[in-house]
Amino acid sequence: MSNQPHNHDNLVQHAGEDQSNRVRHDLVDTEPLCIRTRTTSMAVIAGSEGAYHYTPEGRKLADFTSGVLVANLGHHPKRWWKRVIEYMGLEGAEGDSGYHRAVPLCSYNAATSVESEANRRLLKSLQSAPGGKRLEQVLWAASGSEAIQKGLWASLAKRPDGDGIILATRYGFHGKKGLSGAVTGSEKDRERDPRVRFISFPREECHSTEARKQPLDLAPYRAELESLKAEFGDRLCVLITEPYLGGGGSYHPQKEYMQMLCDFCHQNGILFFLDEVQANFGRTGSMYAFSEYGVEPDLVSLGKGLGNGVPVDAVVGSTEIFARLGYGEGSDTWSGHALGCAAVLATLDEFEQDHVVEQGRKLSAVIEECLMELSKLPAIRYIRGEGTVWGIECQAVGNLPEDQVAHEIVRLCYLGDESGFGVHLLGPLAGKVIRVSPPLTMSEADLREAFAVVHNIVSKIG
Ligand SMILES: Cc1ncc(COP(=O)(O)O)c(C=O)c1O
Repeated sequence: MSNQPHNHDNLVQHAGEDQSNRVRHDLVDTEPLCIRTRTTSMAVIAGSEGAYHYTPEGRKLADFTSGVLVANLGHHPKRWWKRVIEYMGLEGAEGDSGYHRAVPLCSYNAATSVESEANRRLLKSLQSAPGGKRLEQVLWAASGSEAIQKGLWASLAKRPDGDGIILATRYGFHGKKGLSGAVTGSEKDRERDPRVRFISFPREECHSTEARKQPLDLAPYRAELESLKAEFGDRLCVLITEPYLGGGGSYHPQKEYMQMLCDFCHQNGILFFLDEVQANFGRTGSMYAFSEYGVEPDLVSLGKGLGNGVPVDAVVGSTEIFARLGYGEGSDTWSGHALGCAAVLATLDEFEQDHVVEQGRKLSAVIEECLMELSKLPAIRYIRGEGTVWGIECQAVGNLPEDQVAHEIVRLCYLGDESGFGVHLLGPLAGKVIRVSPPLTMSEADLREAFAVVHNIVSKIG
C-alpha cells in the first residue's frame, strides 16, 4: 500500500463556489494528484483575458502568474491570435469539403515554411541581442525539460567515449525528466547521475533587492571551478545554469557571478548553457536574460513565454555543437510543430511592434514600489527580483510557520476582497516564496489595484 495521501485528502473546496467545487471534485477523482503542485487556492478558471482570469462564478482575479510565466503578452491578445491563425494559413482557408487547407499540425518527417520562417526570425532576434552571436541554429523541443535534455545530449556528445561531465549550479530548476532532472536541485535530492557535478550558486548573498546591490566575493566560486578543472580536465563539457533561480526560490544573483561563470567556460573550452525557459521574452527587463546579465552563452534553452501559451520550446546554439547529433537524435513527434512556430512568429511580431519589453520595464518599477511597501508587513521577510519576475519570501508569524503563511496568502488573495475581486498567485516556491510575475502588458493602474488587495490581506496576517 502506498503511503501517499488519498486524493480526497487534498480536495480543495471554497464556500459559495459550487461550480468550481464540482470541477475540483471531478479532477481529484479522474487525475492523479502528481499532475499539480499543491496549492491552497486551486483556482478554476472559466476564461482569461489580458491580465485577468474569471472563475465560473464570475469572480475576477488579477493574474500575477501569467500562467506560469507563459502569457507575457497577457491572455489571448486578439491581434496575436489573428496572426497565429494567419501564419497557420487558416484565415479564409475554408473550402467546401468540410476541411480547411492549412499547414498541418504535425509535419514529422516533412517540413513547413512556417518552421523555417520561425527559425529565421527567432535567430535574428537572438543574434541582434547583445551576447547572442553564438546562437546559430534552433533545435525545437516539446517542453522546457526536453530542450535542456537535447542541449545536454549535444554537449556530452563531444566525448564519444561517454565520460563527459556536466557542471550545474546548485538549487536550479531545469525540469523533471531525464537529464533535466539530473541537473535540477543538488546532490542531496536523490541518487545522482555520475555525469553531473554541482557548484555553488549565491543565495544568502542575494536574499533581497538590497543584498544584491552589494558586490559579490567571487574568489570562493572561482576556486571551486578551478578545483573541478584540476580534477576532470577536458572531461568538463558544459556548465548549465539559470540566470536566476526560478523554481528554486527567486534568487537573482549579482551579474558579476554569471559573467565569471561564462568567462571560466570560454577560457577552458567548456560550453556555457543558460537556461532561459523562464526568463526569455522580456521577463528580466531585456528580451533575453543573457543581454541583461552581459554574457555570451553557447547554448540557450527557451520556452514558456516563447509561444505566449502555445506549448513550444527550443534550445539554440552553434551549428558546430548541434552537428554532433546525427539524424533523428533530437527528433520527436511535436518538435517544430506548425502551431508552435506560428505562435513564436506572432509573439515576436508583438514584441517587435509593441515595445513590450519597455512596458515590462516600466511595470517593474511599480512592482518594486508596491513590494517595498508590502515588505514592511510582519508576514514578509524579503522581496527580491528584477523586471517582471519577483519573489516574496514569507516569514513565520505567531503560531504560523513560514510555509503556512505563504499558503495562507495564496488562499486569501484568491478569495479576494468583499466584492470578490482576487489575485491569482503562484507558490510557494522553495517552501516559502510567493511569485509575482504579471503579464508585461498589465497596466500600471490594474497592477496597483491588485496590489492594494494583496496588501490589505497580508496586513491582516500576524
Ligand atoms: C528555468 C526552467 N527550466 C526548465 C523548466 C522545465 O520546463 P517544462 O516544465 O516545460 O519541462 C522550467 C519550468 O518551470 C524552468 O523554470
